[in-house]
Amino acid sequence: FPSVVGRDLLTLKDFTKDEIRYFLWTAADLKERIKNGKENERVFQLLEGKSGALIFQKRSSRTRVSSETALALLGGHSVFLTDKDLHLGVSETTYDTAKVLSGFCDFILARVNRQQHLEEMAEASSVPVISGLSEVYHPLQILADFLTLQEHFGGLYGRTIAWVGDGNNILHSIMMAAPKLGIHLNIATPKGYEPDSELLKVSQGFAKENGTSLNLTVDPREACSKADVVVTDTWISMGQEEEKTARLKSFAGFQVDSKLMSLAKEEAVFLHCLPRKPEEVTDEVFNSDQSLVWQEAENRKWTVMAVMVCLLNDYYPVYPIPQF
Ligand code: CP
Ligand code: NVA
Repeated sequence: FPSVVGRDLLTLKDFTKDEIRYFLWTAADLKERIKNGKENERVFQLLEGKSGALIFQKRSSRTRVSSETALALLGGHSVFLTDKDLHLGVSETTYDTAKVLSGFCDFILARVNRQQHLEEMAEASSVPVISGLSEVYHPLQILADFLTLQEHFGGLYGRTIAWVGDGNNILHSIMMAAPKLGIHLNIATPKGYEPDSELLKVSQGFAKENGTSLNLTVDPREACSKADVVVTDTWISMGQEEEKTARLKSFAGFQVDSKLMSLAKEEAVFLHCLPRKPEEVTDEVFNSDQSLVWQEAENRKWTVMAVMVCLLNDYYPVYPIPQF
């Protein structure tokens, strides 16, 4: 396996297919051994004595709680810090804050308003910096999504993901990883809400290298046609609240409903990173047997655990490598 010790996880763009698979394998291994296995819990004190600074400039339920509980389970300790607790950005620079925190803690996990803040933290920090979401990316979410799909389908290679909705941080992270794992991408966004054009070029490059397709459309039906996975997210991300009226108007016709799902393959599944609002997906689809949203949410814990473990130590999974 490829060692990723000491690395920052600011975007999956920086990670190879083998490194992404290593995170997923470790997550599957830890889930199997800890949740489903019968091994002594002491075996898993992999992060005993380690501390993580968890900085949140935006709200969070899943990212915070999955990280805190994952770290606690492995014997570590987390310090939860909002921008009301820290001097960050008020009386201290991001750089200085990160430099100081890295003297106390073994890693920094940060949910920030700007990706640039993460980059500044990584530059200043002597310990790994992990993105807990920015306006550009959400890498931890996509690791959980891929673990969920791996568990469900028994493999990822050759599958087609249809994205229906905003060209946002979640989509960008899917774009940085999916082609590397042999996953085709169909992206439907309203006009004016396409993914970032630079990241699109990067993703097209990955697609070319790996022989996968990447299609953009303004028609959700076209994107969902014969897809294995339909994914959406809120149309109004954190920080975009004042655009709500305009966005609701622009996204008309983009709600994932049963009719749209029926265009996908019969065995297709539905994913949503949560939190969910009713406008982007009907209750019927959200609560259907095709929906893997709760498994996806739980997998946030096993994947963030894998990231912490792999960035802090070389970890040798004992569970056989899943088929990717
Ligand atoms: N999906 C996700 O990151 O959720 P939170 O905003 O609750 O962390
Ligand atoms: N796109 C959403 C994801 C939340 C987990 C946001 O940035 O608010």
